[in-house]
Amino acid sequence: MKILFFSAKPYDKLFFDQYNKDYGFEIEYLETHLGPHIVNAVEDEEAVCVFVNDKVNAEVISVLASKGVKIIALRCAGFNNVDLEAAKSHGLKVCRVPEYSPQAVAEHTVAMLLTLNRKTHKAYNRVREQNFSLNGLLGFNLFRKTVGVIGTGKIGSAFCRIMKGFGCEVVAYDLYPNLELERSGVRYAALDEVLATSDIISLHCPLNEDTHYLINEKTLAGMKKGVTLINTSRGGLVNTADVIRALKTGHVAYLGIDVYEQEEKLFFKDLSGSIIEDDMIQRLMSFPNVLVTAHQAFFTEEALSEIAQVTLNSIDRLHKGQEPENLGKA
Ligand code: NAI
Repeated sequence: MKILFFSAKPYDKLFFDQYNKDYGFEIEYLETHLGPHIVNAVEDEEAVCVFVNDKVNAEVISVLASKGVKIIALRCAGFNNVDLEAAKSHGLKVCRVPEYSPQAVAEHTVAMLLTLNRKTHKAYNRVREQNFSLNGLLGFNLFRKTVGVIGTGKIGSAFCRIMKGFGCEVVAYDLYPNLELERSGVRYAALDEVLATSDIISLHCPLNEDTHYLINEKTLAGMKKGVTLINTSRGGLVNTADVIRALKTGHVAYLGIDVYEQEEKLFFKDLSGSIIEDDMIQRLMSFPNVLVTAHQAFFTEEALSEIAQVTLNSIDRLHKGQEPENLGKA
């Protein structure tokens, strides 16, 4: 069976080729995103494999169906970029990887926090220039700080457990409190209280209509002066213009973001030779107390192994007429 990959990077090929030895699928990797402009490149493949920024709308799905494609496999958790109704009406099966490594994202969140509070990003550059002075590197302990966690699902709860290990007070907000986490010493409180009492706030809830711009001028004003804010969830949770204003006044002392509102124009690409037109990201990167990573929280060997194994297994099961556990739900 043939599978055509879109948005394929060298690391996708590495992990999928390794696990495909168990299946022997004929895989072709394309670097380009899937969208109306390229869908005609599909020839006799039974499956297409896509990622977060591929556009699998009704128009694309109708062409895929006419070309004989039977399976759309997402090698990611979210499926907001796929028109599930259109896929259903054309008889195409959709599968995804609902959970690959919550620890990968939780640990990256901690890495961002430890970089910011101990300024290791600055120290790294400084000693390379033989500057061994400590001026400007003064940090703060995490021990006994209050950490506010918004969203305590798979990733948020893993993050809570790590922060408890640092000796932090962990206070959380979620629509559905996790009783096991509560028994382990995490205290649930109303959103306003979590924002007002935390020294460090970390976002782990999904982006939807209710959470869009959860962090805005008003909620920022309700936070402690000198707060540290970390977002490894989705860019749209934070109103970037508002957070830039709060950074300028010092109300937000540190910001770590692995996700950004306008990231689809930037992230996963090497733009080192280009002029970036997005002034907002350029302003953010100009602050010494802001750390930006390009949606890499998931990017560990363990997570990529899991993504490749689950995706290939799901394609195999669908090909054999069986249902994988992780079919996308409309
Ligand atoms: P999950 O579904 O296990 O947990 C999400 C939690 O958020 C749930 O407990 C839910 O009740 C809660 N929630 C929903 N609406 C809320 C609201 N309005 N206020 C407070 N809490 C709310 O999801 P998981 O696996 O923990 O992922 C969380 C997010 O992390 C994802 O939605 C995704 O945006 C992001 N993510 C980021 C990655 C990266 O590489 N940076 C990789 C994977 C996920």
